[in-house]
Amino acid sequence: MEKIFGKPLITQEEILHRVRELGLQITQDYMGKNLILIGILKGAFAFTADLSRSIGIPAGIDFLMTTTRESPGGESTKIISDPTLNLTGTDVLLVEDIVDSGVTAHMLLEKLSAHRPKSVRFCALLDKTGGRTVDIRPDYAGFSIPNKFVIGYGLDYKNKYRTLPFIAVLDDRTKA
Ligand code: IMP
Ligand code: MG
Repeated sequence: MEKIFGKPLITQEEILHRVRELGLQITQDYMGKNLILIGILKGAFAFTADLSRSIGIPAGIDFLMTTTRESPGGESTKIISDPTLNLTGTDVLLVEDIVDSGVTAHMLLEKLSAHRPKSVRFCALLDKTGGRTVDIRPDYAGFSIPNKFVIGYGLDYKNKYRTLPFIAVLDDRTKA
């Protein structure tokens, strides 16, 4: 598989090393708190699984499902599920695969805030800082990446490549 993509932008080893660092930091920051991780499906399934196992304090876990639709005016993302846990008074950490314009994260944080948690913060594995149209910054970010379309480790192009263990830039050969 590697041959098709050339060199990964971020290797599996680099991802897992950085995820462990984030897990340690979150463990320290949330010691004694009532942490609930909210993973965003489908893109953050791999990151949420690895991050949750790098966190050394008891934490609840829940998921929200989003879908993205292509339309003439661009893309629009919709939240199509609700949390199943009661978030009121808890310390919620939103876990996202990537933040680009920031529109999706902004919408998700608003939705989660409506459940009246004690705190809400935001962790993204990848941060395309150059793509931002909404003033939002992840509280925890794995890697800053250039403004290129990436695939793998949960991220898809047309529902493919989510299962790759590394992150690669999509090139013309992989679009087929
Ligand atoms: P935003 O709303 O523009 O911040 O975009 C966030 C969402 O767009 C992410 O949750 C992804 O689903 C998708 N997305 C943005 N950039 C990429 C990419 O490079 N590869 C795959 N999906 C992406
Ligand atoms: Mg996504």
